[in-house]
Amino acid sequence: MAEPVGEESGMSDAKKAWGGRFEGSMDAFVTEFGASLPVDRAMWAADIDGSIAHVRMLGAQGIVSPDDAVQIEGGLRAVRGDLESGLFIFDNADEDIHMAVERALTAKIGPVGGRLHTARSRNDQVATDTRLHAKRLAASLAEGVASLQEALLSRADEHFGAVMPGYTHLQKAQPVLLSHHLLAYVWMLDRDARRLRAAYDAADVSPLGSAALAGTTFPLNRRAVAEELGFATVTPNSLDAVSDRDFLLDLSYACAVAMMHLSRLCEELVLWSSDEFGFVTMDDGYSTGSSIMPQKKNPDVAELVRGKTGRVYGDLVALLTVMKGLPLAYNKDMQEDKAGVFDAVSTLSACLRVTTGMIATLTVNEERMRAGARGGFMAATDLADHLAAHGVPFRDAHEIVGRLVLECERSGRTLQDLTLDELRAASTAFGPDALDAVDLDLIVSRRTSEGGTGHDAVRAQLVLARDAVAEGRAWADTRLS
Ligand code: ARG
Repeated sequence: MAEPVGEESGMSDAKKAWGGRFEGSMDAFVTEFGASLPVDRAMWAADIDGSIAHVRMLGAQGIVSPDDAVQIEGGLRAVRGDLESGLFIFDNADEDIHMAVERALTAKIGPVGGRLHTARSRNDQVATDTRLHAKRLAASLAEGVASLQEALLSRADEHFGAVMPGYTHLQKAQPVLLSHHLLAYVWMLDRDARRLRAAYDAADVSPLGSAALAGTTFPLNRRAVAEELGFATVTPNSLDAVSDRDFLLDLSYACAVAMMHLSRLCEELVLWSSDEFGFVTMDDGYSTGSSIMPQKKNPDVAELVRGKTGRVYGDLVALLTVMKGLPLAYNKDMQEDKAGVFDAVSTLSACLRVTTGMIATLTVNEERMRAGARGGFMAATDLADHLAAHGVPFRDAHEIVGRLVLECERSGRTLQDLTLDELRAASTAFGPDALDAVDLDLIVSRRTSEGGTGHDAVRAQLVLARDAVAEGRAWADTRLS
């Protein structure tokens, strides 16, 4: 029966996987320095799954005896039981999760455990584990994205008809529906979900069987392993398979863009909850006070989400930088891949969760929004359009309305405060329905173009958004079950 092969040599030392070649032992601090166990232990489930699929194939192919394969699988299941129940004792002498599991396996079933690593290297093993784990992470983030979208959708339903100022340059521009504004974020998150699905697909290729870098002399069945592990296909090049971390970059990028969207949403919540805007009131559960100023209620949670975005960008740039100078194939530098990506994923996951809670619990002050929409003379365009529709050249209409705005500004009034007589005094071209031009609800509902803020257009948009969110939720549920 063939002997197991490690990534560099056979296993003969219980402590180190490359013991045979070495006479001296490793410096204790160097051992700690080189370890990835504190980070990659998060992938234990993937490591066991990968090993079970691998050993079943070894048995089926006659590379190890059927008895050995059964014994090893049983041992791996027992190790999984210990990991699940928390009985597993992690030993920092183990470099990584792969060595930790193998050591525990051998402790349970004896030297036959050493046959598991036949025709496998930690190089294809770590790539396999990381891909399996990345798929789970992408699917669970997609679920978090769907939850936030659902919270936004339900607030958009609840406050349908509420009018708020729309801004450009953070200056009041034209009134819009609050629902329209909230739906803008639903679509950003829809693209985030698609990016996560793309990252999932990028990870969905099995590198197992690439061994250290060159493939192996053993008669493997890579496709059977891939199928058992739920991979869509196998990698076509062993060198690329063990040195590719693009799938992690895709996931990291998806996290960075999603964080950017959350950050923009949170920036608006910070602004909106200020006294100057007063559009929303944060729930107490998502606010903090001040130790000195009794009146304070701070939107800390929104600020933190905004702040954590920087970290997630850093995680992406860190991995891009780790990868940029590496010759083929595996290099130990690549062990630095997981800490950043896991940080990006857990940060986004937590931020999605708190943002969902914040959106679901905040109080919307519809009256303040409407009052804000009356300010800033946002009806000016519609008033000028009205004149133009009544035969006044637009240039002149612009001039006439400009004078009305100036007048209102001087007298501290809004365009909605003007009477029909006052409008008529400014131009006889104003029709009997001229006041409709400054009516906020009518201004909004006139935006009938597809994708516009008009009530009918937003109603149609809500239908599309609900479908998109349901599709995203179903995609995630299928991958997580
Ligand atoms: N802990 C390693 C990592 O995460 C596993 C691969 C080790 N391979 C090797 N040839 N030293 O990258």
